[in-house]
Amino acid sequence: MDIKTYSFEPHGDDRGQLVALEEYKDFPFAVKRVYYIYDTLKDVVRGHHAHKCLKQILICVHGSCRIHLDDGHETAEVLLDTPTKGLYIENDMWREMYDFSSDAVLLVLASELYDESDYIRNYDDFKAFVASKEN
Ligand code: TYD
Repeated sequence: MDIKTYSFEPHGDDRGQLVALEEYKDFPFAVKRVYYIYDTLKDVVRGHHAHKCLKQILICVHGSCRIHLDDGHETAEVLLDTPTKGLYIENDMWREMYDFSSDAVLLVLASELYDESDYIRNYDDFKAFVASKEN
């Protein structure tokens, strides 16, 4: 599976670190929405969905978590454990977020506003969506 990750350049100096991200320069879309997930309880698995249009960049800005990706044919696991690593998830990808450290803060940059009608929350519907795009 083709997984797109970014290694963001930190502007480190003797005061500490800073990462700056600009749309279309550091990732390939404009940001309409930002949200973050934190205080996730042990053994919780979030996500369990794909999107019809939405594109996202995931960055674990503190702590760590793992992302399960499924393109309808193959699966992959990605560890996010540094604020300099970004994971690009395009629309038609089933995703689950799990194994959150107790201090994890998962920042998400999203290409669209929140729209429940863009979600595909049933795995069989996701497989049908992938198949319909391939035919
Ligand atoms: P949910 O979709 O269950 O999160 P996840 O996919 O990470 O498991 O979202 C949890 C709640 O937050 C749900 O009531 C919808 C709401 N929500 C918003 O209002 N705006 C948003 O941008 C997001 C991502 C969720």
